[in-house]
Amino acid sequence: MKPTLIAMILLAGMVQLPAQADAPYREYDVIEDYLPNVKGDMQLSGSYKHWKDPKNLDWRLAGNPEENWKLNWKFMDPPFNTSVHGGHFAADRGEAIFKELNKTGRFAACLGARNGSLKGLRTHYPMDRPDLKHVAGLEEVIERCAAKEGRVLQNGSYDNSAVSVYVASQSTGMPININVTRSGPLKASFERGRKLFHMRAGRFNLACSSCHTHQIGLHLRGNVVTTPYGDAAHFPVYRTRYQLQSLHLRFAECNLDTRTQPLVPGSRAYTDLEVFLTGLTNGYPVSVPSERD
Ligand code: HEC
Repeated sequence: MKPTLIAMILLAGMVQLPAQADAPYREYDVIEDYLPNVKGDMQLSGSYKHWKDPKNLDWRLAGNPEENWKLNWKFMDPPFNTSVHGGHFAADRGEAIFKELNKTGRFAACLGARNGSLKGLRTHYPMDRPDLKHVAGLEEVIERCAAKEGRVLQNGSYDNSAVSVYVASQSTGMPININVTRSGPLKASFERGRKLFHMRAGRFNLACSSCHTHQIGLHLRGNVVTTPYGDAAHFPVYRTRYQLQSLHLRFAECNLDTRTQPLVPGSRAYTDLEVFLTGLTNGYPVSVPSERD
């Protein structure tokens, strides 16, 4: 067959493509308020005050008075575990890598540090990165900036998360502060994330919200499901089961648990989910390094 003929056949095939590329059928979970005085995900801040009040940790939600702290254990992080754990070793490792990469100061500047200081930087992530032409989480930016210094720090790898832990630890105690109400790329990402959070998918046809909004406090696979508020403030987290877990790896774990195709860390969809959860975490103090079972 002549190459021109092959090209024509291929072209003919491409012309038909739009007709096949209909949007897939999607089902969404109900978006609802799930606890008294907390207006679901419509209220982007202010839930911190609600959850901080121990009166609102109703043990009936946890099913057992001994376990009501699990409902919102992000508040119990610092007093709950003051001993040295794997998150601290990760911070040390992250610091060593950071210092190696930052000999010229370029690496910190690339991450967005002002005058070389990492203080408060984590509270503004995820952020819109005009250089990348999209909104990006800290781990994605770490990978990109490390590449500029000639080092592979793949998003999701231990070393990438370790640098993330180190950078985040410089903001510990400072409130998460991303603006998802001003119109722009961040707000658009938040809105996409909200939709994804409520979109049913996978073999069990579950949305994130099926568990994290409607089943708070229930025991699933030996764990207590937490609210989506505040989670983003303590990632990457040290898991006693397997070293470090970035937020995107946590999404992948939840996807796998529910027989849904996981995505790669740093994918646009996971970044939108991260922006959504981080918007709900506005006002919560960064709490890194932290530990989970
Ligand atoms: C079948 C129920 C279920 C579904 C569906 C589900 N998760 Fe989870 N998720 C869990 C359980 C159980 C945990 C463990 C609870 C814990 O560690 O506090 C968890 C933990 C998490 C955490 C970490 C919480 C923390 O404080 O450490 C995040 C973040 C999270 N899920 C996000 C998501 C997202 C985003 C989706 C949708 C892509 C999702 N989950 C889908 C059950 C689910």
